[in-house]
Amino acid sequence: MEPIQVGLLGIGTVGSGTFQVLARNQEEIRRRAGRGIEITMVADLDVERARALVGDRSKVVADAREVIANPAIDIVVELIGGYGIARQLVLEAIAAGKHVVTANKALLAVHGSEIFAAARDKGVMVAFEAAVAGGIPIIKALREGLTANQIEWIAGIINGTTNFILSEMRDKGLDFADALSEAKRLGYAEADPTFDIEGIDAAHKITLMSAIAFGIPVQFSKAHVEGITSLQSVDIHYAEQLGYRIKLLGITRRLSTGIELRVHPTLVPAKRLIANVEGAMNAVMVQADAVGTTLYYGKGAGSEPTASAVIADLVDITRLHTADPCSRVPHLAFQPDELHATVVLPISEVVTAFYLRLQVADEKGVLADITRILADVDISIDAVLQRESEEGENKTDLIILTHQTPEGKMRAALAKMQSLSTVLAPIVSIRKEELA
Ligand code: HSE
Repeated sequence: MEPIQVGLLGIGTVGSGTFQVLARNQEEIRRRAGRGIEITMVADLDVERARALVGDRSKVVADAREVIANPAIDIVVELIGGYGIARQLVLEAIAAGKHVVTANKALLAVHGSEIFAAARDKGVMVAFEAAVAGGIPIIKALREGLTANQIEWIAGIINGTTNFILSEMRDKGLDFADALSEAKRLGYAEADPTFDIEGIDAAHKITLMSAIAFGIPVQFSKAHVEGITSLQSVDIHYAEQLGYRIKLLGITRRLSTGIELRVHPTLVPAKRLIANVEGAMNAVMVQADAVGTTLYYGKGAGSEPTASAVIADLVDITRLHTADPCSRVPHLAFQPDELHATVVLPISEVVTAFYLRLQVADEKGVLADITRILADVDISIDAVLQRESEEGENKTDLIILTHQTPEGKMRAALAKMQSLSTVLAPIVSIRKEELA
């Protein structure tokens, strides 16, 4: 059979990795897919650079629409990124009857409903393994491998840049700004790292996993998102003394009242495997009713790891493109008319334990006042640590771990504690998850 023809929109790190891996492993990939897979067209604004990368293996053009208009192209791979032109081109490719592979988590987390609906109407596939956790086949695992299960929750380290920064802060005692500079110097952080350090990239990814896990629409706007920019290394070290590590986790959980969808720094017991995922690596933990806990670990970014996911999607499409669309795996794992409008819970209704750090006056009755405020809103204390503050005499750091409480109650208690004259600095609060 003739090779299936692929057009690439954007050839940067992932695109060139896709070329390399396809070329290197073409014979094995052909044996698996049942026919060859060839990138016959590439569109990139920097035509000269693109030509230098692909040589005479593909036709290089500046205009992505030339690729979409080419009737010989079966699959369009979108590696441009962002919500703007990428959205338009993906919708145009679908309208032209092309299957689409994309690594664009931002696009799908925000515009997924529109894109999947358009793809359904045209009977084409939109595959996005590379959009979540790079080379880790987590979409495949959730959508197919765990299809027998009721998924209960997912917790993931799904942003390598922030995990690298947190690892540096813990290992070397660096503050956030210095760890970020180091991440930039080593190429882990981009020149504008906003999406990574503010938790937005992780929120895009957990939004996609939440939809697949629970059969709900993708709804990034409902996610609660906090990054790591205000995290202080002192809290990383106090957490460690209490047996915890701080990780930026994307968490989604199904409760009888709704779905939790959130990204924030989280204390995780140091004994959990996921707490020991260091540097730029990613890991996703899935709790499901039949299988129990499973953990997926690997590179969440990079040229060939991400290409591995892109090519897996190309192989899937190559195998399935002649199948009746109803017989294919649905984009979001559940049949499109079986998605539920389950409410995504506001953060005030999310139940977690907390780590609190209060800088207080070293006077009698201070601890009693604070514990009384917590008791008054039914918050139970799990552990207390008191340490001399680095900020001067007559001040002390009071670290409290609480048992689980709805966040609304904790916010009320925090406001009351903050108003005490003996509380000398803004209180630090970080959510804690046992992931048991
Ligand atoms: N910037 C992401 C990260 C990789 O640091 O993990 C692409 O999503």
